[in-house]
Amino acid sequence: MAGITNRAFRTVCTLWGAQFSFTEMISAESVIRNLKAVQKMLPRSESNVAVQLFGSEPKTLAQAAKIVEPYAAWIDINAACPVKKVIKKNSGGALLKDLDRLSKIVESVKSAVDKPVTVKIRIGFEDNDLDRIMERCIESGADGIEVHGRTVAQQYSHRATWDLKLSQYCIPTAVSGDIYEVSDVYKAIEISGARAVLVARGALRKPWIFSQIVQSRTPTIEEVKGMFMEHLKMQIEDEGEKSIYKMRQFIAGYTHGMRGAREFREKFMKIDSLDTMKNCVEEFFNSFLMNECKTNVVEWIEDSQSRRCCT
Ligand SMILES: Cc1cc2nc3c(=O)[nH]c(=O)nc-3n(C[C@H](O)[C@H](O)[C@H](O)COP(=O)(O)O)c2cc1C
Repeated sequence: MAGITNRAFRTVCTLWGAQFSFTEMISAESVIRNLKAVQKMLPRSESNVAVQLFGSEPKTLAQAAKIVEPYAAWIDINAACPVKKVIKKNSGGALLKDLDRLSKIVESVKSAVDKPVTVKIRIGFEDNDLDRIMERCIESGADGIEVHGRTVAQQYSHRATWDLKLSQYCIPTAVSGDIYEVSDVYKAIEISGARAVLVARGALRKPWIFSQIVQSRTPTIEEVKGMFMEHLKMQIEDEGEKSIYKMRQFIAGYTHGMRGAREFREKFMKIDSLDTMKNCVEEFFNSFLMNECKTNVVEWIEDSQSRRCCT
């Protein structure tokens, strides 16, 4: 997710059990013009991270893919982004209106790199055109396709469809869209026929969803606090003081469903020093543990909306 999935957050997701992740989408032109400017978006001492590129010119994407290849587990091409300024430049989701261009991009990137090349698509630009898009990506040599079950025009409205019939295509596929709970994972796999699921906003809401999916395990509150601190530490290593603002994106997820979370978040948004941030988080989690639970052996019991805590 652009603006969200930086190294610190990717690492948190991996520590909870995510089996692979993606960088934020990176402009192919920027990679060529000034690699230094985008360097911080590239994986560093991480494994299984795909580097996602966006752009409109086959040659530019191929050149950029070659440059970022050493950092990447594989290269992913964005043909899904609905953001206006990306579409205007014939990139992202606009490629779904111009399948000849998308094919050339896939072919050029494939011939430029040795690592696998995947494509992130939506089901169509305005209408469902999934079959044609899949066939063109496959013919062009893609090694895998991730499908977000909405059209570009839908942006993020409506429910994502998982009715994609992906098992009919002879290529590894992943399904994306509206995966928030473990039960969604199994439903999405069964309905879509995909081999893998991608969790996006669900990971922001609940970073340990990967632990629930992969290990059938919900972490203790103590562990969630520990992970927040680890996340903050990694964020500070990369961005120093600015981390105060960055962590605001994540606090709702870390405190979701906890008593007093709303008041705490309001306070958190006003914090202006890293030391205060650490102390406030420590205090909030500790008081939660003391007030809500008799022991530290905490099991979070999840129903559809909220969590209770019991000993
Ligand atoms: C803030 C935000 C940023 C996103 N950035 C990207 C991106 O850079 N590349 C990409 O392929 N998808 C991006 N997406 C789309 C997600 O990867 C995903 O396909 C979509 O949100 C549907 O999945 P979800 O319902 O699990 O969130 C972004 C989504 C959000 C909400």
